Amino acid sequence: MGINILGMGRYLPEQTITNADFEKFVETDDEWIRTRTGISERRMAGWEPSWYMGSEAAKQAVERAGINPEEIGVVICCTITSDFLTPSMASIIQHNIGAKNAMAFDLNAACTGFVYGVDTAKRFLDTDENMKYALVVSTEALSRFVDFEDRGSCILFGDGSAAAVIEKSDKIYSSYLASDGSGAEFLMARSLNVAPEIAVDNGYEDPFSWTKMHKLMQNGKEVYKFATSALPKAFEKAAEKIGVTKDDISWFIPHQANVRIIETAAKKLGVSMDKFIVTLDKFGNTSSASIPMAMVDAIENGTLKRGQKIALIGFGAGLTYGGIVLEY
Ligand code: UT7
Repeated sequence: MGINILGMGRYLPEQTITNADFEKFVETDDEWIRTRTGISERRMAGWEPSWYMGSEAAKQAVERAGINPEEIGVVICCTITSDFLTPSMASIIQHNIGAKNAMAFDLNAACTGFVYGVDTAKRFLDTDENMKYALVVSTEALSRFVDFEDRGSCILFGDGSAAAVIEKSDKIYSSYLASDGSGAEFLMARSLNVAPEIAVDNGYEDPFSWTKMHKLMQNGKEVYKFATSALPKAFEKAAEKIGVTKDDISWFIPHQANVRIIETAAKKLGVSMDKFIVTLDKFGNTSSASIPMAMVDAIENGTLKRGQKIALIGFGAGLTYGGIVLEY
C-alpha cells in the first residue's frame, strides 16, 4: 500500500532576514554566506509561536485537501523547536484545526523529521483500517535556538512551517529510515535539565557555557561529511526496495541545509542538479520544515505535478537520515 498526498499547506513568517542583516552582529558578509551555503535570506518568526505557524500551515493543508478535519485520525507534529516541553505541539494544532477525533504527538527526528513523520503516518494508515486521513505538520522556529554569536551556524537557519494531509492509496511507496547516534554530539542543543558534568560523564563534550543553554551547536564539517553520504544512501536504499531507479524520479526534494551538500549528493547519485528542488536561497535551513516547504513551493509554481515520482531525502541531528520514494 502507498499513500496519496491529498493537500499541502505552508506558513511563512513575514519578517525576512537578509545576509546583510547578519553583518551587523557577526563578522560575515553576503558573499561568504551565498557562496558557502547558497542562502540569501530566511524568514524569522519573532515571537510567533511554533504552534501558531504549524496550525496555519495545517489549516491550509486541510482546506486544500478538501476534507473534514474531524476525519483525521492522527496528527504528527515534527519539530525540534517546540514552544513547550509539554504538551506537544501536535495536541495544540489538533485543537486549533478541529481535528477532534485524532490522536496527536510530536516527533523529533530533527531535520529528517518530515520523512520520519510521513512514514510513521503511513504505518498508522496501514494498520488501522478505520483511519481515513493523517496530518503531518513540520513547524520550526529555529531563530529562537540559534546562537547569534556563532557565525558558523547562525547564518544557516530560518523559520517556517508546512503540512500535508495523507490518505491510503495504491500508488508506489518505499522508505528507508536510519540513525547513527555515534554522531549525536555533532549537532545538539542542550536542554535545561542536563548538567554539563552529566553530559561530559556520558561521553559528550561540553562546548557550552551555561549562557548557551538551549542553543544549537554543531560541528559543521562533520555534519557536512555525514550529509553528503547520507542523502544518496537514503535515496538508494528506499528506491532499491521497489526497483525504482534515479531515472524514474522527476524530482529529488532534499533537506535544505547547504547547496554544496545538495550538489555533492547529486554528483554522487549521478543526477543533474536540474532535478533537485532547491529553496535554500530564500528560506535557509528550516530543519524538519525544509522538505515540505520546498514541496509546497514546487506545487505552487507548477514544477511538481500529479503522477510524478519524487524522492524526499533528509538528514539531521541524531544523526538521523532517511528517504521516501513516492508518487505525488
Ligand atoms: O540541518 C543540518 C544543519 N547543519 C548543517 O547542515 C551544517 C553542515 N555544514 C556546513 O554547511 C558547512 O560546514 C558550514 C556552512 C557550516 C561551514 O562551511 P565550510 O565551508 O565548512 O567553512 P569552514 O567551517 O571550513 O570555515 C572556513 C572559514 C573559517 O575561517 P578560517 O578558520 O579559515 O580563518 C571560518 O571561521 O570560514 C569562516 N567562517 C565564516 N566566515 C564568514 C565560518 N562561518 C563564517 C561566516 N562568515 N558566517
